Amino acid sequence: MSAKHHVDRIRRQSVRRPWPALLLPFLALAACGRAQLPPTSVAPRPLPTMEPAQGAAATPLPLPPHTIIPAPVRIEVSATQSMVLDTAAVIVVPAGSEEVARIGRYLGELIGTTVSTTPRVVAAGGHVPPGSIQLVLKGGHAPPEDESYELTVKEEGIRVVAARPAGLFYGVQTLRQLLPPDVEYSATPPRPWRVPLARVEDRPRYPWRGAMLDVARHFRPPADVERYIDLLALHKLNRLHLHLADDQGWRIEVPSWPRLAQHGGRTEVGGREGGYYTREQYAALVRYAAERYVTIVPEIDMPGHTNAALAAHPELSCDTVAPGTRTDTEVGYSTLCVERDTVYRFVDAVVGSIAELTPGPYFHMGGDEVMRLSHAQYLAFVERVQGIVQAHGKRMIGWGEIAPARLDPATIVQHWKPDSAALHTGRGGKVILSPAGKTYLDMKYDSATALGLDWAGLIEVRDAYEWEPGTWLAGVSPEAILGVEAPLWSETLDSMHEVEYMAFPRLTALAEVAWSPQGQRSWEEFRLRLGAQVPRWTALGLHYHRSPLVPWRER
Ligand code: ACM
Repeated sequence: MSAKHHVDRIRRQSVRRPWPALLLPFLALAACGRAQLPPTSVAPRPLPTMEPAQGAAATPLPLPPHTIIPAPVRIEVSATQSMVLDTAAVIVVPAGSEEVARIGRYLGELIGTTVSTTPRVVAAGGHVPPGSIQLVLKGGHAPPEDESYELTVKEEGIRVVAARPAGLFYGVQTLRQLLPPDVEYSATPPRPWRVPLARVEDRPRYPWRGAMLDVARHFRPPADVERYIDLLALHKLNRLHLHLADDQGWRIEVPSWPRLAQHGGRTEVGGREGGYYTREQYAALVRYAAERYVTIVPEIDMPGHTNAALAAHPELSCDTVAPGTRTDTEVGYSTLCVERDTVYRFVDAVVGSIAELTPGPYFHMGGDEVMRLSHAQYLAFVERVQGIVQAHGKRMIGWGEIAPARLDPATIVQHWKPDSAALHTGRGGKVILSPAGKTYLDMKYDSATALGLDWAGLIEVRDAYEWEPGTWLAGVSPEAILGVEAPLWSETLDSMHEVEYMAFPRLTALAEVAWSPQGQRSWEEFRLRLGAQVPRWTALGLHYHRSPLVPWRER
């Protein structure tokens, strides 16, 4: 959360941005695939129509040719022809690749509900029954971070081809969205599934497609975090930034400083009991995420937002008097005593302990909203922490305030309000975009939203969708943008239902901002696909905001 005085500046920034000209009509996109499917190809057929949503204009709305989100780069889908995925189908994976076999099992469990309806995963080389699914790793020299894939659905079978397992996983997510929404129920009667014939070529716009969950203000148990990871995976999002420490709670065990979690983790906003992740639980979350191609990005916010740490270890504060634990939502009052050596021993132990459990290359040091230090003290602290993070083999990330420090070009600045990120990109550094007025999922949708805050404005799903990351920051070239991330601060959210309600559908919109080519995005077309998610989201038990801007349809 931020102080209210940022509001006006952020509001001004949002109106200053020119909207991109809207955009190629979707059918042009659908038609631009390299090869057309036989006569069944979507383009250019007249679109079927649907009834308008209650209260909407009387003109019937067109049905989208497909309902995949984020929209693929190229797609052709048959409106009339499909293949049948029956219980004889198997999932074929390359011999010797346990990683792809795991993706195959993930897909099998999605399709089937019982042993007899779950397709077997078999190694390539033997007989492939017609109507099966093949996951193919193509050879070649693709870089390790390649996430592209191709998917073809033909009457004789389904093929997903990619250079890397991540691409196969994303092809599987696209196939999932071509399957009927009933596939999402964990108990449905055995039945063959119909998949429309299709051809897809796809790759993401940005390598960083993130979400942030604040588990400090209100703790979320591991099962809730796993649920969030599953929802990220459905949307081809690939970073989960966990805000693990703030004034109201410390949420991760650090064995050499046990009071951090044991005392600092006891509380949360509102005064209920908090909680923390043991090392085993955190490591299990990292694994769970990695199996879904999501990298966990741990954040320990410092030198401010540290009351929970100071309450556990008063030697980290300048007066060495332990403050009480805090369950209110004030900001800006706490700081580590940055002149003390103990503080750097603490930082080293915490970064080292978390880095050991974090195979991903990033460590986020927070660095926001520091109001109790001089600018020089603040910058010196950031530079010293950067050295510690690098000594533990990680790339540092910090909120926009860190940009004026002497940063290594490998360090990443996360923009959230007007800042000097351009200083960092000028030295070759990269930026993650989380402009509060577009991406903060804790902002209210409209004035009637019971949950959330409004200091960065009201953010309807259309606002979250309609912006252009490439030109968002004056003085920052499009190449310096690593991607987009949607933070969800949890001061007002104390259940997973509430988290989901604030995240959806805006996180769905941001997933498309991060993945799909800007020139192919259009709100008018997107809202039709969004409205068509109801049966799938119902099957998933998702809580979401029924935005009046979206023609929701039940079937
Ligand atoms: C922030 O919202 N204080 C990063």
